[in-house]
Formats: sequence, C-alpha cells, structure tokens
Amino acid sequence: MAQSHWLSRRDFLKFAGIGAVGAATSDMSPGLSFVSKALAQSNASPDLEVRLRAVEREVSILPGTPTKVWTYQGEVLQGDAAALQTIPDSYLGPIFRVRRGQRVRIHFVNELPEASIIHWHGLVLPEAMDAHPRYAIAPGQTYAYEFEVINRAGTYWYHPHPHGATATQVYKGLAGLFIVRDDEEAAVGLPDGAYDLPLVFQDRSFDADNQLAYITGGMMTQMMTQMMGFLGDHILVNGKPEFELDVEARAYRLRLLNGSNFRMLKLGWEDGTPLTVIGTDGGLLEVPTERPYVTLSPGERIELWVDFGEWPVGAQLLLKSLSFRGVEMGGMMMGGMAMPESTTLPQGEEYSVLKVNVVQESTETSLLPERLSTIERYSLEDAVNSGTPRTFAIAMLNEGWTLNGRSFEMEAVADDEIVRANTLEVWEFVNVVNSDGMGGMGNMPGHNMGNMSGSNATTEDQMAHPMHIHGVQFQILDRIIDDAFRDGWETVSAGYVDVGWKDTVLLMSGERVRLLMRFSGDTGLYVFHCHNLEHEDLGLMRNYRIE
Ligand code: C2O
Ligand code: CU
Ligand code: CU
Repeated sequence: MAQSHWLSRRDFLKFAGIGAVGAATSDMSPGLSFVSKALAQSNASPDLEVRLRAVEREVSILPGTPTKVWTYQGEVLQGDAAALQTIPDSYLGPIFRVRRGQRVRIHFVNELPEASIIHWHGLVLPEAMDAHPRYAIAPGQTYAYEFEVINRAGTYWYHPHPHGATATQVYKGLAGLFIVRDDEEAAVGLPDGAYDLPLVFQDRSFDADNQLAYITGGMMTQMMTQMMGFLGDHILVNGKPEFELDVEARAYRLRLLNGSNFRMLKLGWEDGTPLTVIGTDGGLLEVPTERPYVTLSPGERIELWVDFGEWPVGAQLLLKSLSFRGVEMGGMMMGGMAMPESTTLPQGEEYSVLKVNVVQESTETSLLPERLSTIERYSLEDAVNSGTPRTFAIAMLNEGWTLNGRSFEMEAVADDEIVRANTLEVWEFVNVVNSDGMGGMGNMPGHNMGNMSGSNATTEDQMAHPMHIHGVQFQILDRIIDDAFRDGWETVSAGYVDVGWKDTVLLMSGERVRLLMRFSGDTGLYVFHCHNLEHEDLGLMRNYRIE
C-alpha cells in the first residue's frame, strides 16, 4: 500500500473515530486448546494472516454503566497492519481492508460460552470457508480459514452463522465489515481515505441497567416476536447511539450496511435531496444512479456518493428512515392474535438515523465519475433452466417458516436444491400466497401443500423477507407484485437498486423476484435463507448443493 494511502488512512481514523489495530497485543486466554480443523492449507505464506477472537467484553454504548457485548477482536499476525481497523469503543469487529487476489488466512478463536462459526457474507468461497452452520466450533476451539479473495471490489461483511443462534449472536455484537479493493475501482478515482466512510446500521434495546435487551415478555409474546422478527428501540451507527458525522463541504463515499436483525430502512435526506447510488452488495454499479431514497433490508449494502459541498458550512443534515408499509403481517398470525408492539420505534415509522454536520470548507472538487465499472450482463436465454426457473416459495407452515414447504435441516438437500458447478441458472423467490392458498406452488409438482391451502389467505398473512444466497453474487432479472399488495410495495419500491451485483434481495409482501446467477466451480453444501435473522433461526433457510 502506498505511503500516501497510509497517511490518508490516518486522517480517516481521526474523522470516523476509527483506529488501526497496529501493534495491539491481545494475549490469548491461557488454557484454550487450539484444535484446528483439518483443512488443506497451502504452504505459501498468505498476504494477510489474522487472529480473530470472539470474546465477551464490556463497551460503553449509553451514558453510564457499560454494556456487556460479544465482539470480534482482531490481530494482524502477518501482512499489512492497516488491513485491520478497529472502531474504538464499538462492539463491531475490525474492518478488514484487502485487495482482490490476496490470500487471507484467518484463525477464528471461539472464546464464547457457546458454539459459533464465522460467515463471510457476499464472498464467493470454497464450502469449508463459507461456514455452513454444520462447521460451528465449540467454545475454546479454533477454525482456520484460508482463501483467496476473488470477489470484485465491494463492501462485504462477516458475522456468526451457527444454526439457531445467529440472531442472538449478531445481536450481542458479533459483526464486522470486509472491504475489498481492486484495480478497476482504483482507476475510477472515488473519494478515498478520510472521505470513504463505512456506516453500519443496527437497532438495539437496553434494559434499565444499560444491558442489551432482546426478546422479552410472556411466552406468547416471545413466540410471536420470534416469528415476526426483533426490533430495537435505538438506531446505532457503527455501534454508537445518536450518531453524528462531521464532514467537509466536499464529496464522500458512504458505505451503508443494514446489520439489523429485522429492521428495514428506507433512507432519505430530510430535505428531500435525492441520493446518488454508486454501489450495491457486490460492488460498484456501471454508472451512478439516482433514487429519491434507498430501501435497505437486513444484510444488504448500498454505496452512496454524496457531495456535502452542496450545503453551506454550518448546515446540519438529517438522514432519516422514511415511512413505509407492507413489511409486517397483520393480525392473522397465530390464530388471529394481534402482534403486540415490542418497540418504541415501530417498523415503517419515520425517524432520524444519522446527523451530518458540514463543519469545514474544502477546496477539493471531486466530480462524480460518469462510469464506475463494467458489469457482464447475464441473459435469461443463457440460463440452463431458462424456461423453468428454480422456484422457492416462502410460507409460514405449522407455525414455522418454510421454503417450498421445508424448514432447514442440517444435512438434507432436496432434489430441487441441487445445482451444477459453473452453470448459469434462473431462480425465482415467491412471497405470495395465491388466492388458491398454494403459495405460488401451483407450478411445483410433487409438493403437498395441503396445510397451506387450509389457511384462508389474505394480504394480512404476508410479510417481507430479505433473501440471501451464499456462494454467489446474482443479478436481479425482474420482479412482479401482486395487485393486492401494490399499495405497500409502492412505499419502498422506488428505493430498490436492482441494477448491480447482489447477494441479498428484498421481497416485499406479495412480491416475486427472478434472479440470474452463475455458480462457481466450488462444489459442496451452501445455504440460502431469509436475512431476517429470527426467520433464519426459525428455519427459513435451506441447503443447496453445487455438484
Ligand atoms: Cu449474512 Cu447466511 O448470511
Ligand atoms: Cu452470506
Ligand atoms: Cu423472512
């Protein structure tokens, strides 16, 4: 990395309150047995070698008593110390900064009191590196990752993935960004260093003693919250409440991640200034594109180009989550019982998420590039199943969440969940209960959806699901919204950014979406699931096998 880059990184640290890990020493707890999984490791020394420990500790989030959290702590063992950046006083894990083509070795040390495993969300990796839930390691164990970063430049992230405990582990604080750079991106000349800011949005609730509060209430309330998803009372940005950003009057690149369990964001400036989107989950778009607001569901990333020079020094801007409808189901769930309100910040209500203060003049005039990257467009005709999309219908069945009528099973793969390596496929996710109650299953011979057709389906039954597929970056071919749901859909659809590479796609109630994806040559078992983490843990996840 060039010297100038390193210096600008310093400025960045000062600005965003982020410090490089540098020579941080973190002694490993004595008595831990470091049992490495038997994984083939190349003898070649990696470009970056990191020890990443998942530990319990305390951080100061609200004024007063510190909060017990679970967090990733990183330490560079080999390679550029600036490749890991900690966010001081935040529970978020260190930000990885790597280049495409680099070989990374990561020793994940589980110092938590329960099993865990790390998933690298958005990266295309061999199966054993992708962290299928069956690879979860027990407390005290180590899992050795070693992989080459083949993804294009983009904002990826990492978080735990043990089945049944992903929601609680992420909620306790386990998550971090994984930023990839490459030559194509460098040639564009986007704002860099201090002007390239990651913003991770998460909602949390706290008890009277400042400790994280998760699902509470009576048994029935807890069950229902679990089925719907958990909403917190505070919006934290980079792990901090009431987040304010001091900026210069110039252009910035903002990397946004919605790291919430269930909360959807519809982000827009309070003064109505449109947003200039430059990237999605899998990196830069081909050209910048404007949106009145952006819809960001859990797991998704959006990159923005914002010229704060359009506002005078002294201006204060509010980034809000604007109001929307159609995400949560109505009163139909569990025998018609209405969902109790579990948060002071209901889904779809308008509230502010971030304050920006334009504090300083700038002589820098960086122009928005006309072209950002080249994206090879997939076409439907090239898909091996172009005439018969692989369809997965989402439905609640016997009070559990299902894909084509099945909940997650650790090892099982059904016939319609097997794909071939190196092929281009079209997949369709269906979030519609048809008037015949068949949940879009009419064209799925061989599935007995008798239970579903028993429910008298109405628009009240549906809720939104951000669907995520491991092991690929896909392209969104098209969407169809059922007329009965159009009103709610129109409160968010202008904020979809469907033109870039994606690994997570929001399906609103009543929506179906077709995706084009090419599987890599890595065979094995991968998962796809709803990134509403309560849904994922409740089984809205399935294996698919590449063979
Ligand atoms: Cu971000 Cu399988 O998850
Ligand atoms: Cu993932
Ligand atoms: Cu879901």
